Amino acid sequence: MKVSFSAPSIPKTGALVVAVLAERKLSPAAADLDQRTGGLISRSLAANQRFKGAREEILSLAPPAIPDLSRIVLLGLGDAEKIDGKAMQRVGGVLLAHLNQVGEEKAAVIVDAVEGSLAEAAADLAFGGLLRAYRFAKYRTNEKPERMPSMAKLTVMCEGAGAARKAFASRERLAQGVYLARDLVSEPANVLTPPAFAARCLELRDDGLDVEVLDEKAMRKLGMRALLAVGQGSSAESHLVVMRWGGGKSKSDPPATFVGKGVTFDTGGLSLKPPAGMEEMKWDMAGAGAVVGAMRALARRKAKANVVGIVGLVENMPSGSAQRPGDVVASASGRTIEVLNTDAEGRLVLADALWYAQNRFKPSVMIDLATLTGAIMVSLGLHKAGLFASDDRLAHELIAAGDAVGEPLWRMPLGKEYDAEIDSDIADVKNIASHRWGGSIIGAQFLKRFVNDVPWAHLDIAGVAWSKKDAPTVPKGGTGFGVRLLDRFVAARCER
Ligand code: BES
Ligand code: MN
Ligand code: ZN
Repeated sequence: MKVSFSAPSIPKTGALVVAVLAERKLSPAAADLDQRTGGLISRSLAANQRFKGAREEILSLAPPAIPDLSRIVLLGLGDAEKIDGKAMQRVGGVLLAHLNQVGEEKAAVIVDAVEGSLAEAAADLAFGGLLRAYRFAKYRTNEKPERMPSMAKLTVMCEGAGAARKAFASRERLAQGVYLARDLVSEPANVLTPPAFAARCLELRDDGLDVEVLDEKAMRKLGMRALLAVGQGSSAESHLVVMRWGGGKSKSDPPATFVGKGVTFDTGGLSLKPPAGMEEMKWDMAGAGAVVGAMRALARRKAKANVVGIVGLVENMPSGSAQRPGDVVASASGRTIEVLNTDAEGRLVLADALWYAQNRFKPSVMIDLATLTGAIMVSLGLHKAGLFASDDRLAHELIAAGDAVGEPLWRMPLGKEYDAEIDSDIADVKNIASHRWGGSIIGAQFLKRFVNDVPWAHLDIAGVAWSKKDAPTVPKGGTGFGVRLLDRFVAARCER
């Protein structure tokens, strides 16, 4: 979908969208249009008493007698003084879904009547629309045209369109990062193997990132036997990918470092998962997807920060060469791990990836994202990700960033009592506790054993990486959760 900005005017064709505020108060553009159409809007409101002009409410009207407009759409904004950027994005998303549903190809939206910057509001509406317009359609070969999204061109009209266009530019690049993360998460695991994922990372060189791919031989040299053990049952080679963006004032400033779990498929290994729902484990690489998407967004919007993104890419398969429950492996840190359950594999991958990240890059802060535990879904449901942090300031900054972009986090505890539960009888640490309580905390506690004194946070995104329901700015499927949050975190912490 193409997005453009212009000064307000009445277009010759397509849909025209105007705003209605709380208590059915017409925006200036809506009032003007009402006059030009001989009271069409007033009459329609009279006939639709349930339409209140509340935020995200939509009323589609018949075409007016104005040349070739296909329809007028009334867009509810609610209280003008309460509408912020996040709310405008949701409005844009809801509008886009409506326009696609009714089969419009072209629409113009007049943004007025909101308090604060009209340019920012217009840019946010367009951003929300773009986020909602995402669709993973590459494997649909004979879809009926009437089932395909129709919208090809969205024009957002406001006073100061130039400023809106400028404000949209960085948001559009961010949306491209979200799109990439969703593409990766949606891709089936027969296509997106670890080598294929690494190849997708290499494409980020075109965005100006420095990208290195480590193969199994390189990782063996580095002693990453925990990560390698997870991949050893798969016929696909494991990889670790390092992506670097050096937009900071000085190249030597310590980077913010993001680490993603990239299990391209998680069967559980020999601790095999039950068949029902196993197909969902194609998105067990959503942490890595978010990291790659964020790196693209940061590079494309030329973020003034040094950032490193690292993803550990493996496939967890059962086979004659798979690791066994009870195996002991030495990790890159030198610490030995007793693998009591091969389905607790993400933490093994991250143990080596985190160790490598902190030692090679001496980061100012290290954040990992992982679909680590089903238990976080039991704790928090599907609307918030779990946050575990060794550092209060970092925790607060991440919560603020998540709230600002609509990717909320909820802080979970760490503590030495939990840590004691992963002491092993024969090795330094075991990868599960001897009971099932507090599974997400146990997972986080395991990761913490491989983190030195760098401020570190772990986001358990198992509940939010995939959605079975459309939301205003997130169509069902891979959500791209984390991309906007990391982008906002970098803007607030590193670019000020
Ligand atoms: N990838 C899963 C966690 C998961 C489950 C993500 C459901 C999304 C939806 C992870 O590797 C896993 O299998 N975790 C186990 C840990 C257990 C063996 C300690 C779990 O959550 O059951
Ligand atoms: Mn698992
Ligand atoms: Zn997993």
